Amino acid sequence: MKFNIIKMELLLLIIILSIINIKSLKLPFKNPFSGSSSLDNNVASTTQNEYDSSVMNTYGRYTLTVSHGKGCKLYDIAGNEYMDFTAGIATCCLGHAHPALIDAVTKQIQKVHHTSNLYFIPEQASLASWLTKNSCLDKAFFCNSGAEANEGAIKLARKYAHTKLNIDYPIIITAINSFHGRTLTAITATGQPKYQKDFGPLTPGFEYVTYNDVNELKEKVKSIQQMGGGKGLAAILMEPLQGEGGIRPATNEYFKTIRELCDQTGALMMVDEVQTGMGRTGKLWGYENFNVEPDVLTSAKALGGGVPIGSMLCKNKCNVFGPGDHATTYGGNPLACAAGLAVAKTFEEQNILKNVVARGEQFRTLAKQLQKKMPDLISDVRGFGLINGIEINEASKVTAADITKALLAAKVLVVPAGPTVVRFVPPLIISEAEIAEVINRFETALVSLKK
Ligand SMILES: Cc1ncc(COP(=O)(O)O)c(C=O)c1O
Repeated sequence: MKFNIIKMELLLLIIILSIINIKSLKLPFKNPFSGSSSLDNNVASTTQNEYDSSVMNTYGRYTLTVSHGKGCKLYDIAGNEYMDFTAGIATCCLGHAHPALIDAVTKQIQKVHHTSNLYFIPEQASLASWLTKNSCLDKAFFCNSGAEANEGAIKLARKYAHTKLNIDYPIIITAINSFHGRTLTAITATGQPKYQKDFGPLTPGFEYVTYNDVNELKEKVKSIQQMGGGKGLAAILMEPLQGEGGIRPATNEYFKTIRELCDQTGALMMVDEVQTGMGRTGKLWGYENFNVEPDVLTSAKALGGGVPIGSMLCKNKCNVFGPGDHATTYGGNPLACAAGLAVAKTFEEQNILKNVVARGEQFRTLAKQLQKKMPDLISDVRGFGLINGIEINEASKVTAADITKALLAAKVLVVPAGPTVVRFVPPLIISEAEIAEVINRFETALVSLKK
C-alpha cells in the first residue's frame, strides 16, 4: 500500500515537472501548414500571442497569417487566396514555390549548404561569373541583404577615395527621399530623417540633394570640391527609381549628369539596385534604362528569388578591396548562390524580361484608364516594368494605407510607398489575367473608399 502511494506521488511529480518543462521550453507554435481549418483561429491567436510576448515590436503587421504560396498567389491559414502584388517586397521574382527554385535549393542542401569563405565555393564563382557577364561590372562581393550590400559599396568608395583619389575625408552624395537600408550607415545614406531619428550620432561624410534636380546636384558637387581640409567627393549613390520614396523613376538627364560629374571629379557612380535589380524594371538592371554605366552596383531582393542574398558589384578600376578588407560569414554561401543561379537560369530560359515589359505596359495602361475615370482620386501613375506606383490625390483624403487595407479585404496584397502612393510589385511571372483582375479589384476598393 505504502509502495503504491509512493509510486502515485512519483507519477504526479513527473507530470508536474514535464508541464513546467514544456512551459519553460516555450515549444514552437503549431505549424500553420499542418493546421486544419477548425484550428485556424487557434493558430492565428497563438501566433499573435507569441509575437506579443516574444518578438520585438519593430514592424506594423497586417492581420494575416500566411500558410503557403503558389505562383503569384498566397493562401492564409483559413484557406483564403490572395493575389500577391507585394512578392515579399519585390523579392520573390519567380513567385512562390517555383519548381526551379525548389529543385535548386533542395539539391544544394542535400549536398552542402554552408562552408564559409575560408574555402572555394563553385556556386559563388558561377553566380559572380553570370552577374559580371550580364552587367557592365567586373567583380562581385556577396553578402546577405540590401543594407549590407550598400555598406560594402560605401566602404569601397571610401577606400577608393583614400587610396586612389588622395581624399582624407571622403564625402558621398545621396538623394532626399532615398532608401538604402537600416544599418547605421545605411540610414545615414537614406535621405529621410524619419529613419534617422533617435539613432544619432550618424555616420559622417554624407550630403543630400533633391532627386532628379540636375542643377542642385551640380552645385553640391562644386561646393564639396571647394570645401578644402582634405574633403572631397568619393561617390554619388542613387537609386534608378526611388522605391520606398514613392516609386519615382530617375530622368535620363539626371543619370547622364551623375555620370558626367563622376567622370569630371573621379568620384564613383554607385547605383542602389536592391529593389530595381534583376529584371524588375524590364531590363536586367535599372541603370540600363538610362544608357550610362555605373562603377558600382548593389543588388539583393530578387537576386535569390526570395532566398536571402546580396551582392556588391564593381568595375575593375575600383576593385580596391584586398583580403581582410571586407567579409561576412554567410556571404555567397552555396545555398543562396544555388538559388541565385536558379533565378538567373530561369530568366534566360523563360525570357522573364519580355513578360515584365509586356505586363508592365498593360498595368500602366489600365491604371491610366482608371486615372481618367477617377481624376479626383488618382493623381499619377508611374514606374518602370513591374515596379509601379499609383499616387492618390491628397485632396481626396484617402491614403495609401486606407487602400492597402481595403485591398487586403479584397484579397490583394500591396504595400504603400509613402503616405500617398500604392506600390505594385508582383512576381515577374505575373499573367495578363492576373493584372486585369487586380486592377478590377483596385477600382472596386477605390469606389468603396471615396469620401
Ligand atoms: C533601394 C533599396 N536599398 C536598400 C534596401 C535595404 O534592403 P534590405 O532590407 O535587404 O537590407 C531596400 C529595401 O527595401 C531598398 O529598396
